[in-house]
Amino acid sequence: MAVLVTGGTGYIGSHTVVELLNNNYDVVIVDNYVNSKPEVLNRIFKITGKKPRFYEVDCTDYAKLKKVFQKEKITDIIHFAGLKSVAESVAKPQLYIDNNIGSSKVLLRLMDEFNVTNIVFSSSATVYGVPDHVPLKESDKIGGCTNPYGQTKLDIEYLLKDYAKEHKEANIAILRYFNPIGAHESGLIGEDPNGIPNNLMPYITQVAVGKRPHLNVYGDDYKTVDGTGVRDYIHVVDLAHGHLCALKKLEEKPGLVIYNLGTGKGTSVLELVHAFEKANNMKLPYVICPRRPGDVDENYAEVSKAYKEMGFKTKLNIEDACRDSWRWQSKNPNGYDK
Ligand code: WQD
Repeated sequence: MAVLVTGGTGYIGSHTVVELLNNNYDVVIVDNYVNSKPEVLNRIFKITGKKPRFYEVDCTDYAKLKKVFQKEKITDIIHFAGLKSVAESVAKPQLYIDNNIGSSKVLLRLMDEFNVTNIVFSSSATVYGVPDHVPLKESDKIGGCTNPYGQTKLDIEYLLKDYAKEHKEANIAILRYFNPIGAHESGLIGEDPNGIPNNLMPYITQVAVGKRPHLNVYGDDYKTVDGTGVRDYIHVVDLAHGHLCALKKLEEKPGLVIYNLGTGKGTSVLELVHAFEKANNMKLPYVICPRRPGDVDENYAEVSKAYKEMGFKTKLNIEDACRDSWRWQSKNPNGYDK
């Protein structure tokens, strides 16, 4: 009766595995370490006292992944595995199509072959494209993605919708994440991007720990509270809880359901910077720079559906995330590398 977590040693995957193990789920991880390190497994053990079964497998490899389905009694899948850099997807669109869509197709083929009915998919707010209003509801227009990464998430949502039409017994939860930030309170696991961070919070913590001279604030002429970009920053531990709510929801055999996972509140870049400074009692150097191509002014979630239909709402706030991100980074200045 195992939950198969693809990409389970990644940032969101590892936080979700911790919550699953702490709630006595039987967890199997498959990961190819393209965006993570084996050390994550040791940290999961340190936090939970448990060692999930692990297979180093690339999810696009049908033959290898099939062996896991033959060996394990999989009842549910949480599919995190995928490349997630917006900038890299613009430079290498075919890699993102082959990897993100390819792995999802392999998984659906094996689900069908092994009669696995339940899957939770890690989607993204980028499927809404350039929003013409906020907050965004699940019923709002999707498409017009501004980058190949977001387009792959949208294409996989359509793959799942087609699969659901053909497999009436399938129960599928599509979770559209807004902006995950923060880290587990232990400081043992956290966000450890390869190379120069694309995302705001890991860049902030690398400035704070002295790895970067200052933060580049991409634009202060947006139509927002202070001119800087506004996003919906959800604590990664809240996000992990959202996956447990989704697994429970699938037990009700709902068919295909779609939920935004966010706080329902927008926070600007400078508001986040000042919250980080206050929470950690430090000054964070930053420079105002030109806008980053593809960025939108504002993007935050309407969150009532996740609460009404699966009882999910966030409990942690921006200050918690700033404190937890800093605890992770200050205890692990080089991430999972020693
Ligand atoms: C947030 C804000 C930037 C970095 C992307 C993906 C989304 C999800 C989260 C994967 C914006 C500003 C950023 C920096 C800055 N990814 N910023 N200086 O672009 O909202 O969303 O990451 O699941 O799918 O689209 O997140 O953190 O890159 O940017 O000023 O060094 O911070 O302009 O306003 P984004 P982000």
